[in-house]
Amino acid sequence: MQKLYEGKSKIVYKGEDDKTCIISYKDTATAGNGAKKEDLPGKGRLNAAISNLIFEYLAENGVKTHLVKVLSETSVLAKIAEIVQVEVIVRNVAAGSFSKKYGVPEGTSLKNTVVEFCLKSDELGDPMINDCQLTAIGIATQEELDELKSAALKIDSLLTSLFMKAGIRLIDYKLEFGKADGEIILCDEISPDSCRLWDADTDKKLDKDRFRRDMGGVIEGYEEVLKRLKEALGK
Ligand code: TYD
Repeated sequence: MQKLYEGKSKIVYKGEDDKTCIISYKDTATAGNGAKKEDLPGKGRLNAAISNLIFEYLAENGVKTHLVKVLSETSVLAKIAEIVQVEVIVRNVAAGSFSKKYGVPEGTSLKNTVVEFCLKSDELGDPMINDCQLTAIGIATQEELDELKSAALKIDSLLTSLFMKAGIRLIDYKLEFGKADGEIILCDEISPDSCRLWDADTDKKLDKDRFRRDMGGVIEGYEEVLKRLKEALGK
């Protein structure tokens, strides 16, 4: 296979034609923009399985995504999209940088869903950026940003109810979108690497914070998420 790009947690290969690519999930875990790095055997398979279940569920509910088909335990065929250089952060409960920045204790439920934009730039550390700044530097139009926000809110209401069924609190997560055939579609992954997921009864963390904060039991957390999602979806 012809490698097109290798990132921190995935490798992208040439696909079946010039409209598709093959995305392969790696076992590498990174945090702090690559400062902390470790190999966690099984992580690639678990993230692929979790993200595929979620993308299929979203597609069944009318969300357009890049996923074409699942190829193996760790790889998918996806539409090539021109990635919008914006990370869309969605928050239902205060945690992480939001808690630090605004002094809201971790675990506080938010009165409304928060959608934030960050500029996608490892070099600059993905700084938070507002609509006005994004349109000013030509990253996206206001129309595109409005579309990202409404897609994020639709995805949030679908995901919150799915995770609730799985006995999991969906705290916050990151979404990425791209443009393909003139449409904005959901890209990248939705997995415990990109979400904060807490057990609904005990608030036990089942996501990458276990790795970021050296809590141990990372793979066990991801396995629990996959098991519960399968049950919730009847798969
Ligand atoms: P956030 O609280 O902004 O950052 P931090 O992880 O530094 O506390 O993160 C909000 C959510 O978005 C969290 O679930 C992690 C996820 N996220 C990513 O997966 N990648 C990113 O580059 C960013 C900025 C956030």
